[in-house]
Amino acid sequence: MSAIFWYLTVLLTVVVCLSIALTVAVTGVPTLPSSSSEVDDVIALLKRAQLPEHAVIFDLGSGWGTLVVALAKAFPNASVHGVEISPFPYLISRLRTGGLANASVRWENFFRSDLKQADAITCYLMPGLMPSVCELLDKNLKPGTRVIANTFLFRGRTISTARQGALRGPVALYVWPARHWVAA
Ligand SMILES: C[S@@+](CC[C@H](N)C(=O)[O-])C[C@H]1O[C@@H](n2cnc3c(N)ncnc32)[C@H](O)[C@@H]1O
Repeated sequence: MSAIFWYLTVLLTVVVCLSIALTVAVTGVPTLPSSSSEVDDVIALLKRAQLPEHAVIFDLGSGWGTLVVALAKAFPNASVHGVEISPFPYLISRLRTGGLANASVRWENFFRSDLKQADAITCYLMPGLMPSVCELLDKNLKPGTRVIANTFLFRGRTISTARQGALRGPVALYVWPARHWVAA
């Protein structure tokens, strides 16, 4: 009995590790969560971004759900949607958001997501992906949508305001399409 339990535990661990490694290999993005100071910066920037009372917020690549949970608690009247492609982090984020009425997560490639309802977007990805994400946002977002990029920024777009920690990259707020400076 204990041998079966041991084999199942090892098998499950291998499957989980392989599934995470495979999605990192395909997307080029690790499942690293935002740090607590980055989460604080995202919330502070969104608080001063004049979002509508019942804002719709998407976290593109929501990983383990860290930011989705924090945003849902910080903006109780908003709807916060995470989109995550990696199965195991997605399952954990489902558990973490289970008790939050204003949070949801989807197992999906965000390049296929409908983002037209978004009032705000957050993302913490990798530099190589940012040009395609920029194109995705250009095609899908209504003008004036607030976009927050953690650490890896959009080239050729104008930051409205940013917060910079001592030991890490900036967290920047854009008013999309962010071709010119707009006060947020
Ligand atoms: C660095 S983590 C950030 C997690 C979370 N947003 C946070 O701030 O804590 C980036 C996540 O994006 C996911 N990802 C990358 N490309 C994706 C895609 N096309 N669709 C959905 N998720 C994606 C990765 O699997 C990874 O979990």
